[in-house]
Amino acid sequence: MTKPAITIHGGFFSELTTSPETKLAKQEALRFIIRKSWDFLQTHSALQTAIYACTLLEDDPLFNAGTGSQIQSDGVIRMSASICDGETQKFSGVINLEDVKNPVLVAEKLLDCEDRILAGEGALRFARSHGFGYYDPRIPIRIQDYEARKKAASKTGTIGCVALDSEGRLAAATSTGGKGFEIVGRVSDSATVAGNYANQFCGVSCTGVGEDIVNGAVAAKIVTRVTDGMPLKEAVEKTFAELKPFDGFAGIVAIDHFGNMIQKDSHPHIVYALKNEGSEEIFG
Ligand code: GLY
Repeated sequence: MTKPAITIHGGFFSELTTSPETKLAKQEALRFIIRKSWDFLQTHSALQTAIYACTLLEDDPLFNAGTGSQIQSDGVIRMSASICDGETQKFSGVINLEDVKNPVLVAEKLLDCEDRILAGEGALRFARSHGFGYYDPRIPIRIQDYEARKKAASKTGTIGCVALDSEGRLAAATSTGGKGFEIVGRVSDSATVAGNYANQFCGVSCTGVGEDIVNGAVAAKIVTRVTDGMPLKEAVEKTFAELKPFDGFAGIVAIDHFGNMIQKDSHPHIVYALKNEGSEEIFG
């Protein structure tokens, strides 16, 4: 019997606004979501829990995924999400999906398919054929942000969850509205193994600048290093050291098969929460 553990993140605090009210609201949201997801984990698998936590984060407009996603340069929201089941080592994802409420649930549907990563129009057609109806994820503050970005670029955000269940199974899920104001067709890291990965030994969910995360193959490298016997903390430190030469902008949450949990960011500050039986840590 393994002691369950869960960690979630809500992107970078520099994202959206930096007001004390937003900070407090994000803290409260993380506390609420990690507690709900922790309760859920007591009776569900790591995979089910990672997906569940991501839907809660996607539904909260404070975070850049699902409702409240950032808007691309042509004024359209395109979202990406993926799931990695550490037990079966299956990865599924959607890239640049429009007009659905929970991209992570479309990724979940793809887990049982032969073709497991779909992009753009194909992803939308798949979603609609599986009962995902039209949903407009725009919120007023993102529209204002988009208008402002026509003049100046700003930061990034994403949400994610890694869970370890009582059977020792690990899973990771990650979802994003992207960088905001990106070129149409740009692919985020969140639906790649650089941004979201898990196996029997470790699970990692990333946030930050997708190009930097893919350059650094961040999640896949950490998981591989832990699989090969490196302690989690060392694997994270080494992978982040490798981001330094190009000033890579990334943040992660991770859990290993012993239940060790960690968060790290290259720049201030990833918004995260960690919880197991003995402790709870919220950083919003
Ligand atoms: N990490 C989110 C993105 O760069 O799209």
